[in-house]
Amino acid sequence: MKKPPRMATDLFVLTLPAILAIAMGGAKHGVPSKAPAPASSVLLVRGEHVAQAANCAGCHTAPNGGAPFAGGRAISSPFGSIEASNITPDPRFGIGRYTYEDFDRAVRHGVAPGGKALYSAMPYTEFSTMSDDDLRALYAYLMQRVAPVAKPALPAGEQPPNDDDSHYSHS
Ligand code: HEC
Repeated sequence: MKKPPRMATDLFVLTLPAILAIAMGGAKHGVPSKAPAPASSVLLVRGEHVAQAANCAGCHTAPNGGAPFAGGRAISSPFGSIEASNITPDPRFGIGRYTYEDFDRAVRHGVAPGGKALYSAMPYTEFSTMSDDDLRALYAYLMQRVAPVAKPALPAGEQPPNDDDSHYSHS
């Protein structure tokens, strides 16, 4: 007739730290897992704040109601006006195929995948001091919380800058 309350208590005690570890982003220290764990909401919220503080959308969103981060705003530079890229996670027109390392090179070092140097209209020198943790959060946010937009940044009629493998060229 005796119920086993101890069992339940022990189970709880064993499980709670595990749940907390996962919720708190224990993956940072390599908690083994087969599938890549979805980023925690803590990380994504941090990434959103980083994006706001750095004003990525300010340049990477077209004026007059352009889709967020889909590009289309012309940024003036000493080299003339440079179109801000589509940085939504679309694999063809955006940064969907960027690894984290690709993202780091572009955002903190001004080098796009394929080795093309970005114009300084993209203010990577301002982002070079961004911490690894902020950059990872920003990457997770852009990849997982921004809607992919399968369109080149340039308005229709102009040559798309992101077509297939010429994705990273700016000619
Ligand atoms: C002052 C305007 C401005 C701001 C702010 C800005 N960018 Fe850019 N970004 C640009 C322009 C312009 C380009 C295109 C540069 C070129 O074509 O060489 C660019 C290019 C990029 C690229 C390269 C895309 C490709 O073509 O492969 C990435 C990635 C990127 N930006 C991410 C970001 C992120 C993330 C932020 C916020 C931390 C940000 N940018 C903030 C203007 C800006």
